Amino acid sequence: MMIHKRLIGTVSESKKYVAGNVALQWCALAANLTMIGAICRLLERLYLGNVRAEDLTMTAAIVMFTVAVRFGCSVGAARMGYLSSRAVKKTLREKIYGKLLRLGSSYKEQVQTSEVVQVAVEGVDQLETYFGAYLPQFFYAMLAPLTLFFVLCFVNVPSAIVLLIGVPLIPMVIAVVQTWAKKLLSKYWDQYTALGDTFLENLQGLTTLKIYQADACKNQEMNEQSERFRRITMKVLSMQLNSIAIMDLVAYGGAAAGIIVAVTQFRSGHVGLGGCLAVLLLAADFFIPMRQLGSFFHIAMNGMAASDKIFRLLDLPEPEQKTAAVPDDCSIRCEDLHFSYEAGREILKGLHLSFPKGSFTAIVGESGCGKSTVASILMGRNRKCAGSVTVGDVPLEEISEESLMKNFTYVSHQSYLFKGTVRENLRMGRPDAGEDAMWMALEQVKLADFLRGEQGLDTRLAEKASNLSGGQCQRLALARALLHNSPVYLFDEATSNIDVESENDIMAEIRRLAMTRTVILISHRLANVADADQIYVMDHGEIAESGTHEELLSMEGQYAALWYAQQALENYRKEGQR
Ligand SMILES: Nc1ncnc2c1ncn2[C@@H]1O[C@H](COP(=O)(O)OP(=O)(O)OP(=O)(O)O)[C@@H](O)[C@H]1O
Ligand SMILES: [Mg+2]
Repeated sequence: MMIHKRLIGTVSESKKYVAGNVALQWCALAANLTMIGAICRLLERLYLGNVRAEDLTMTAAIVMFTVAVRFGCSVGAARMGYLSSRAVKKTLREKIYGKLLRLGSSYKEQVQTSEVVQVAVEGVDQLETYFGAYLPQFFYAMLAPLTLFFVLCFVNVPSAIVLLIGVPLIPMVIAVVQTWAKKLLSKYWDQYTALGDTFLENLQGLTTLKIYQADACKNQEMNEQSERFRRITMKVLSMQLNSIAIMDLVAYGGAAAGIIVAVTQFRSGHVGLGGCLAVLLLAADFFIPMRQLGSFFHIAMNGMAASDKIFRLLDLPEPEQKTAAVPDDCSIRCEDLHFSYEAGREILKGLHLSFPKGSFTAIVGESGCGKSTVASILMGRNRKCAGSVTVGDVPLEEISEESLMKNFTYVSHQSYLFKGTVRENLRMGRPDAGEDAMWMALEQVKLADFLRGEQGLDTRLAEKASNLSGGQCQRLALARALLHNSPVYLFDEATSNIDVESENDIMAEIRRLAMTRTVILISHRLANVADADQIYVMDHGEIAESGTHEELLSMEGQYAALWYAQQALENYRKEGQR
């Protein structure tokens, strides 16, 4: 298909600019025809020797006028091209952005971040040329030869017919080229996004690569990948150059055929000198628009490959928009919860969990047993889980993301901190937080002293807060969470990088929080969970034991064993410090 209906329908605003562009180009053509007609008539009069003074001034006036019109038209057409590019970029980027918002925080389950970035930036840029240049040219390239044919029919029919017949040869060449161009271009795009993926990942992990001296090996890998990309790029370029050469051959060959017919007609006296000259001057114009279309065609193909990617993104199934809100009774219950990331490897194997409103519940268990998976399900991610999760009496899957995020605060061991000031990061938790409230939260997480030594709330953070220590990042994330002031809190190893003394202080704050809020705490350090109202011990996706600390100890099972082991270790450490 040379015209992508859905694409045009998506950016229907650009239709009027495309039409305006075509109309202006057509006006320029009409002006050109008038000018050439006037010049040829004058030359014929000169040849015949019956030229009058007013013929000269008249022709000069016509030439000046038509040149001005052509100039105006080409400026206007460029402006139209610009306007439609702008409409395209704005509409498509808005659509992509809106789509991402509707996909919500779980978009990563369906599409990779780097692909989204490439499609939204590079892909949309490709389409800019599709709408700004290719589409108008597509219509103009059909309109122009027909117009010229119509005009030249008054001059000399045989040459007009020969010229018109030559024109469709160009799209035929294009069609032949298209069949293999399409395959090549889709391969090109695959390689391009793959290279982007690798580059982004290696850049983000550069420190790690250096530490393990794996950068040389990754470098090698990337070199190979870029070599493949180079090769496919060269293939695409040579395909484009070759097809342009063939099109040139057809275009100028066709023009030559028309000129030969015109000259023969002139010799046999079927057409005057002026008419013959007009055919000579206009012959190439029959083909130039088509030939131009052919060179835009590759841009269009690129654009269409990009648009396939854009539509794939826009067509991703969306979670239906939910309307229910978290009820006042925000007790959470999980019944027979099953979940697997990939088929055949079940991570959660029928969990029954209950987190009553205002209770302090802990989840412990070996690394990899599925604790964080439970947390992300409670936060509305990993929607493909089986079983039921209810908040009060409302099923979790009916609660809107907005309400869930307002009522559930999730703090992981690596919460995202943004580039900017401490104040800006804290205000994300509560936009109207006053200075006092912010300092109080910072005191609670034992970060206030450190910040007083810096620039206080104006202390600047680098991207991902890379200028803070791991523990400081966790404290700041905790302070932000405390400011958020929601009825439910989920802490997933939120204090894992903090020294034991400060951790004990922060845990005291969390316990205080648990007196008024529902707190779910995931921690590998059992001392943190000992005074929880209920402790779930997970093992390979199942609940092995549950109860209070005392109950669990008296069971003398997994929990008790782990508790005594950790106690021994901590006592040993304390003795070591003495
Ligand atoms: N995005 C994912 N895709 C596929 N498998 C995953 C994904 N995330 C986690 N898993 C798998 O699910 C299992 C449970 O992971 P989870 O993160 O819930 O463990 P965890 O109990 O939080 O462990 P830890 O104490 O180390 O944080 C692991 O075996 C892990 O390999
Ligand atoms: Mg985890």
